[in-house]
Amino acid sequence: MTEASNEKKPIPADKLVRVTFEPEGRTVEFEFGTLPYDHHGKPMSFLDVAENFDVFLDHACGGSCACTTCHVWVKQGEAGISEADDDELDRLDMAADQQLNSRLGCQAVITQPGSYVVEIPRWNRNYVSEGKPLTLAENK
Ligand code: FES
Repeated sequence: MTEASNEKKPIPADKLVRVTFEPEGRTVEFEFGTLPYDHHGKPMSFLDVAENFDVFLDHACGGSCACTTCHVWVKQGEAGISEADDDELDRLDMAADQQLNSRLGCQAVITQPGSYVVEIPRWNRNYVSEGKPLTLAENK
């Protein structure tokens, strides 16, 4: 797995998974079926991908479909994502800014190679800017 801008080994086109997280615009790429499970959400969920590449996607319940903090809007690649089950749909009903393309990042699983774009809603981004500690450069 590689950052899109720092590829070392080419990934076969028919096995390439490319996920862009907006609004940050961060794109990550990996070969389908090779991503190690990071134990956050379902394997190959957007949360799992985010955790593997250190992309911040909040997940207050740890990826067990018990909150809505991992809410994302799927902007591209919907056909390659698992269908939402009843538990996810019930939980999404409680999400702020719900749209037709809303999914829980911990439950929406990438099922095939392809390009995917998800946007993290503003309220979650606000949390990022307000709630996450800044990384300060060491001056020693
Ligand atoms: S992290 Fe809580 S529902 Fe996804």
